[in-house]
Amino acid sequence: MAARWNRILLLGSLILPACFIAVNGNISQNCTDFQSSSWRNVLQRLELNIRFMLLTRRNQDCAQIINDNNDIENSNFNGSLPTKLIMHGYRIMGSKPSWVDTLAKELISAMDVNVILVDWIIGSTAAYNYAVKNTAKLGLVVSTLVASFLSYGSTEDSVHLIGISLGAHVAGFVGRMFHGKLGRITGLDPAGPLFSKASVDERLDPSDAMFVEAIHSDSDNFGISRPVGHIDFYLNDGKDQPGCRRLFLFSVYKLLICDHMRAVYLYISSIKNHCPLVAFPCQTYEYFTNGQCLDCNYHSLRRCPRIGLLERGGLSTDVQPKEVKVFLMTSSSSPFCAKHFLVEIFLKQLGPRDQRVDIAFLSNNYTTMSKLQLTIPNKQSRERTMKKVISHDASYGNMNAIIIKLLSSWHRKSYVIHIEKLRVRELPLNDSERPPRCIYNIVIDKELFFHQFGNCL
Ligand SMILES: *[C@@H]1O[C@H](CO)[C@@H](O)[C@H](O)[C@H]1NC(C)=O
Ligand SMILES: *[C@@H]1O[C@H](CO)[C@@H](O)[C@H](O)[C@H]1NC(C)=O
Ligand SMILES: *[C@@H]1O[C@H](CO)[C@@H](O)[C@H](O)[C@H]1NC(C)=O
Ligand SMILES: *[C@@H]1O[C@H](CO)[C@@H](O)[C@H](O)[C@H]1NC(C)=O
Ligand SMILES: *[C@@H]1O[C@H](CO)[C@@H](O)[C@H](O)[C@H]1NC(C)=O
Repeated sequence: MAARWNRILLLGSLILPACFIAVNGNISQNCTDFQSSSWRNVLQRLELNIRFMLLTRRNQDCAQIINDNNDIENSNFNGSLPTKLIMHGYRIMGSKPSWVDTLAKELISAMDVNVILVDWIIGSTAAYNYAVKNTAKLGLVVSTLVASFLSYGSTEDSVHLIGISLGAHVAGFVGRMFHGKLGRITGLDPAGPLFSKASVDERLDPSDAMFVEAIHSDSDNFGISRPVGHIDFYLNDGKDQPGCRRLFLFSVYKLLICDHMRAVYLYISSIKNHCPLVAFPCQTYEYFTNGQCLDCNYHSLRRCPRIGLLERGGLSTDVQPKEVKVFLMTSSSSPFCAKHFLVEIFLKQLGPRDQRVDIAFLSNNYTTMSKLQLTIPNKQSRERTMKKVISHDASYGNMNAIIIKLLSSWHRKSYVIHIEKLRVRELPLNDSERPPRCIYNIVIDKELFFHQFGNCL
């Protein structure tokens, strides 16, 4: 027992001084951090206890509480600078969001801004529908804060709300209080449960800010599947994210929220801006992967929007998109950027039956960059051209070769498939940096094929 108390005291003595971190040698400054909650708080019906914390370039590691005008006055808040509010979502465990410090740090290092962390841990813990109920009250309190920023010199268009999951709908609520005049709302996998069928007044929608964007990564579970912004980015199919199915690597909890959290980690990564995360306007993911959306001039966007801090996602101000779905494939880890390619297969001679094949695309050092599984139709088919969009990690160099493997090889094959040409072109088609690559005359009559790319004739 004594040993245990010693350990707790030791822990306490390590933690407490951290609350008084020196800021430019000024030790009178108190740093604040997120609260934590428990189910007991909820049962006791404690107040929501919403807190706002400010981080700026002058206090990057020591958040200042700014709950009222007096706090704002005594803080580093600067109304001449843009302001970004980060609103977390449902917190099942009542703990501080693990990504919030990183997101704030990246924002501050990317631009001179006021970053406001909204702590509504107390109201967001325990039952999901309880958290949902609290969002209206939270929205009101956040609106009051934003209104005081306006009285301290901020302009409406310089306010950017970044809402995660439930926080995205709170952002929508706040935006509506300002009649859609706030500059920007970014919804990171806006919550789906209890919002999928909600009216525009009850969820995030394009009228909530001058520019509303959403990044969808788990639309079949915790995220909403319908578009809710001017531009809606769908990562991969918007449902299942690469690298999230490696069960054995994750705890069950991490596995459950992996897809949902991908929008957050990808957004953080996009702020560092290592590589462009460019998405293609398209009706559905299937159309996209089937090569029907290869350029950026669909839907009069005239440009493919980018995830990140770029104003309006890089779109010009004279386009007025609304609920435009844009798709991009990503890699499984940070910085998540992928390059997209159109694979075209021109068939010459077909067999009597459909034939499934696996195609592996290899780099210069023969590592697999991308894989594609497709069904080559039988000779009854009129279709002689197949199109598929694939992607590979942007860090890879040129595609060098392919390996084609026949699937269902258990039955002896007595027929030959002849592919006249396989062509690979980078997307967007009219803007690709790399010349197309081709392989000619692929005659498939055995199980495994290796072919090297060359220039197209
Ligand atoms: C510490 O900061 C406060 C407010 O930011 C200021 O009023 C005070 O003069 C500073 N003290 C020192 C020793 O710099
Ligand atoms: C820091 O917190 C203590 C205790 O809550 C308070 O007495 C003190 O005035 C605070 N100092 C500043 C600079 O806010
Ligand atoms: C506020 O920001 C503006 C614009 O960057 C800057 O010129 C000004 O000095 C800042 N004010 C304070 C008090 O830091
Ligand atoms: C092959 O090249 C890629 C980059 O193009 C690199 O990431 C990978 O480590 C290389 N693999 C080997 C085995 O050299
Ligand atoms: C591709 O098309 C877009 C939209 O029409 C245009 O903005 C861009 O300049 C084009 N790129 C090239 C290399 O022609």
